[in-house]
Amino acid sequence: MSTQLYVTSVEEMQAAKRQATQVHDGLKGVTVGETRLSQVDGEHGKLCYRGIDVGTLAEKSTFEETIYLLWWDALPTAEQLATFSAELAERRALAPDIHRLLQVLPGAAEPMDALRTAVSALTCTVDDDGDRCHEASVKTAMALTAKLPTITTAYYHYLNDEESIPPDPTLGHAANFLYMLHGERPTEMESCAMDVAMLLMADHGFNASTFAARVTSSTLADLYAAITTAIGTLSGPLHGGANRRAMEMLLAIGSADKAEAYLTSALAEGQRIMGFGHRVYRHVADPRSHTLRRMLYKLCEQHQRMDLYELAGAVADLMATKKSLYPNVDFYTAPILYLLRVPLTLFTPVFAISRIPGWTAQVMEQYANNRLLRPLARYVGAEHRAYIPLDRRRA
Ligand SMILES: CC(C)(COP(=O)(O)OP(=O)(O)OC[C@H]1O[C@@H](n2cnc3c(N)ncnc32)[C@H](O)[C@@H]1OP(=O)(O)O)[C@@H](O)C(=O)NCCC(=O)NCCS
Repeated sequence: MSTQLYVTSVEEMQAAKRQATQVHDGLKGVTVGETRLSQVDGEHGKLCYRGIDVGTLAEKSTFEETIYLLWWDALPTAEQLATFSAELAERRALAPDIHRLLQVLPGAAEPMDALRTAVSALTCTVDDDGDRCHEASVKTAMALTAKLPTITTAYYHYLNDEESIPPDPTLGHAANFLYMLHGERPTEMESCAMDVAMLLMADHGFNASTFAARVTSSTLADLYAAITTAIGTLSGPLHGGANRRAMEMLLAIGSADKAEAYLTSALAEGQRIMGFGHRVYRHVADPRSHTLRRMLYKLCEQHQRMDLYELAGAVADLMATKKSLYPNVDFYTAPILYLLRVPLTLFTPVFAISRIPGWTAQVMEQYANNRLLRPLARYVGAEHRAYIPLDRRRA
């Protein structure tokens, strides 16, 4: 009887050990924490910020209102919005040292690398007193959110041997970005398209860059360090880099009638089609894609580029038929940014500019209830190897 008990407990111990060392490849399906910011419902294809449907927010609110909602857990009153928008606009300018840094970066630096470097350098312009309370963090979050579009556009102009264009405090966040890029005020439709695209990218659960920011902040490193980490993580082609590649693909295909041949051959070669598939929305469309598709339609109509809308639609339909894969946020954002004359090299920085409210809100949430994020790894390398002294080692 006791032997039987002993055997069971050994088995249980082995099972517990197996369970403890079970590897979740890519952390797929693993819940690592709680958030009150965005609810990503992969089963039903729904996304809410602080409980409010993003489609409704995109239709009725602005990016600034969304930032406020993420940081303060309530939509602002008209007065709060006016004060907040003015405070954000006031912080857009960069210190001369940051401009100088952007000017001396080697010309081969990708805009995402320049953005990451400038954000990291911004740490040197402030004294970190170690205060991680909400009030102190919001101050930093506001400065970072305000400055990212200025850094991105200034670097773009310096790369092209042009003067940077100072921000226009009378314009909203999205419109001001387009203004600093092109030097002319965007139309109402263009401002609205940019605003909607930014709003829809503002937060998205524990995606790779947000999770990276949370890992960094869980060490109680400052917000600048966390956002530097996030920008680096976003730069990869499987994350923020997908929007640019999606546009390159659309340009390479050229027209709707060529989509079938292109996709058949790309898929036969085992290529990943950028802007499709999602870790969480596996069998449903990314909810953001519906609003973005409608926005693309309006923009294509205004710009008389219905051919681009038809091309994007043909690719989406073919991917659904051939692979049961649906557009993610990057797919329709790409032609929207293209029509807004955002250069391809700035597509991923635009993602960063849009995601910073979410990153900073997630970092504040991490600070408020912090526990060091430190997972385990199962060691699968060699064991018990003999040590060879330096003079006896052979190549
Ligand atoms: C987002 C993404 C990384 C999610 O990956 P994931 O959850 O790890 O899914 P997997 O890599 O396990 O893919 C599952 C299957 O779908 C296929 N697949 C996934 N996305 C695909 C895509 N965009 N094009 C072609 N096939 C794709 C994979 O090849 C794999 O097929 P297999 O089982 O025959 O090998 C993936 O869909 C992708 O690479 N998409 C393109 C990049 C992109 O748009 N990123 C932006 C995300 S918001």
